[in-house]
Amino acid sequence: MIRPTDALKAEHALVAQSMRVLTGIGRAVRAGAAFPAADCAMVIRFLREFVLASHMQREASVLCPAVAMRGDDTAAAVVGEVMRLHAEVGDLVHSLMWFWEPGDLSAPEREGFAAAVDALNQRFAQLRALEEDQLFPIAEAFVPADDRLEWVQSFQCDRDSSDRWRARIADLADDWAS
Ligand SMILES: [Fe+2]
Repeated sequence: MIRPTDALKAEHALVAQSMRVLTGIGRAVRAGAAFPAADCAMVIRFLREFVLASHMQREASVLCPAVAMRGDDTAAAVVGEVMRLHAEVGDLVHSLMWFWEPGDLSAPEREGFAAAVDALNQRFAQLRALEEDQLFPIAEAFVPADDRLEWVQSFQCDRDSSDRWRARIADLADDWAS
C-alpha cells in the first residue's frame, strides 16, 4: 500500500545526508581548514530552497493543519512541537549565512559556525524522530481511502528538483561525509 508520507520520509534521508556533509565541513572549519565557501554555499542553498521552501512548506501547509484539525489534543501538541522545531531550523539555517563574508574566518567565527552546525544537526534529528514516530502515523491513521491519492500527490515534490539535489548532495558526500 502506498503511504502518502513515504515521499516525505525519503526526503528526510536526503536531509540527513546533507547534514553529514555539513558536519564534515563544520569539523574541518573548527580544526582550522580554509573555509570551503562553494561547498558550504551549495548545502545551504539545498537547505533553503529544498528543505525550508519545499519539504517543510508541504508539511506545514498540508500535513500539520490536517492533523491539527482532525486529531485529538495529543495530535495538536505534536503539531505545535513540529512547528516550533521548524521555526528553530529556519533560524539556524539563516544564521549559517552570516558566515559567508569574503576572506577567512576568525577563530570565534569558526567556532560559531561549527556550533550552529551542531545545533542544526540536533534539531533535525529531533524533528525527524517526532515526524516519523508521531506526526506521520497520526496522519496515516485518519487519511480516508478516497483521499489517499490526493494526499500522495500533495506530499510529492517536483521529481526533477529532488533528483537534481540528490545528485549534488551525493557529490558533496564523497568529499565531506565520513
Ligand atoms: Fe520533515
